[in-house]
Amino acid sequence: MSAKYDDAFLLSTVKDAYSSIAQSGATPEYATTVAQAFGYTVEQLQSVPIESHMGLGCGNPTVTATLKPGETVLDLGSGGGIDIFLAAEKVGPTGTAIGLDMSADMVKKARANAAKRGYFPPSVCFVECSLTDTLPIKSNSIDCVLSNCVINLLPPSGKTHIFGEIYRVLKPGGRVVLDDILAKEELPPHIRDDMKQYVSCIGGAVEVHEYDSLLTAAGFNDSVFVDNRADLNIYLTAATSGAPTPSCCAPSAVSADAKDVDLNHWAASYQIYARKPDTGGAPVAETPLERWWDAFPTERATNIKRLSPPELEAILRNGADVAVIDVRGSDRSGGHVKGSHVRPAQTFHTQLASFHAQFANARLVVFYCGSSRGRGPRCAGWYQDFLDAQALRAPEVRVLDGGMHAWLKAYSADAELTEGFPGEGETGSVQGV
Ligand SMILES: C[S@@+](CC[C@H](N)C(=O)[O-])C[C@H]1O[C@@H](n2cnc3c(N)ncnc32)[C@H](O)[C@@H]1O
Repeated sequence: MSAKYDDAFLLSTVKDAYSSIAQSGATPEYATTVAQAFGYTVEQLQSVPIESHMGLGCGNPTVTATLKPGETVLDLGSGGGIDIFLAAEKVGPTGTAIGLDMSADMVKKARANAAKRGYFPPSVCFVECSLTDTLPIKSNSIDCVLSNCVINLLPPSGKTHIFGEIYRVLKPGGRVVLDDILAKEELPPHIRDDMKQYVSCIGGAVEVHEYDSLLTAAGFNDSVFVDNRADLNIYLTAATSGAPTPSCCAPSAVSADAKDVDLNHWAASYQIYARKPDTGGAPVAETPLERWWDAFPTERATNIKRLSPPELEAILRNGADVAVIDVRGSDRSGGHVKGSHVRPAQTFHTQLASFHAQFANARLVVFYCGSSRGRGPRCAGWYQDFLDAQALRAPEVRVLDGGMHAWLKAYSADAELTEGFPGEGETGSVQGV
């Protein structure tokens, strides 16, 4: 591990490098050559968007993962999304596949690839976060954790941290399949401390015994290490056909001297398999994401103007051209603003285009949830962002101040302003803000 640079520097250098890869991409020839060299089949590669892989992996973890329909899978450092798409195919519509990546550009790219493939939250999610932080994932919620050529990139403290997090989020009996670059011997300082070698997945590689100690310390016993026996120099030889800049193990990322380095001498690609002991009895979370909205872009428009209940009352009584949108979920009970349209916040972002097609001609669109502190302003912000992206000035977007609580306080007895839902009476659970 680098003795020269601190963890924060390693982290930010890796983030910048992979953000620029996300922006530049790789040629299909390079990406395909590298992917095939690390075990992806032609059929697998044809089943995913070509932009979802950029020659950045060092194995094919979904094969060993033996994923089953309905399972929940988490990919650490998901890049353009290739392994999430292959996993989503296996866990099916009843399962969940979540990719985490610290590069906002990678997450954006993966979400765009997912949309091309027809995948959307909550079944397929990409979330921006660093693996060096507490993962935004509930404890005991994941059947299988995957990662492909990422853990070597974590700074020393991050490597220790992530194995503890993997253990925490896995269900009892859950499994982890990691493809990663490991060092064959202690790396000499000229490789260890070369940042180009570091972002190229070599400089931060640790030896099998160190990796095994980290897994054991986290609680994983009996980890299995298998040498993928792949030729790491493929990153160098395939690069004539257009490697991303810089790229994992590719020469553009490596200093001139280092291009002459035989990568197979210093490192190898391994697949590591481990299982969390099934102690039984641990609570199993129903949904894995701590915050469902992490699966969507953060809204830019955060200053949407408020409309007070009396202001909305006046507008409704005047019969003005207004669309009132109830974005509550299963907590929708006890009545709603008369004439509201129901658009649950959890799926709102994926339906922005059709929402706009329906309400484009309204003069005013007013959003609300229970208190209008969370989901109401969030959906209003997403819609405003949608309008801003197209330089549209209408409709006007507002949030009902105080949400349904304030509305019911003032108008619950007024049948012209408040109505119930068919079959209302059952109380739903209160969802997150
Ligand atoms: C070598 S690429 C592998 C990408 C993907 N797994 C694949 O096989 O195509 C490494 C990925 O891990 C991400 N990454 C590196 N360090 C990270 C960290 N500390 N937290 C989250 N993601 C990280 C990078 O942004 C990049 O997308």
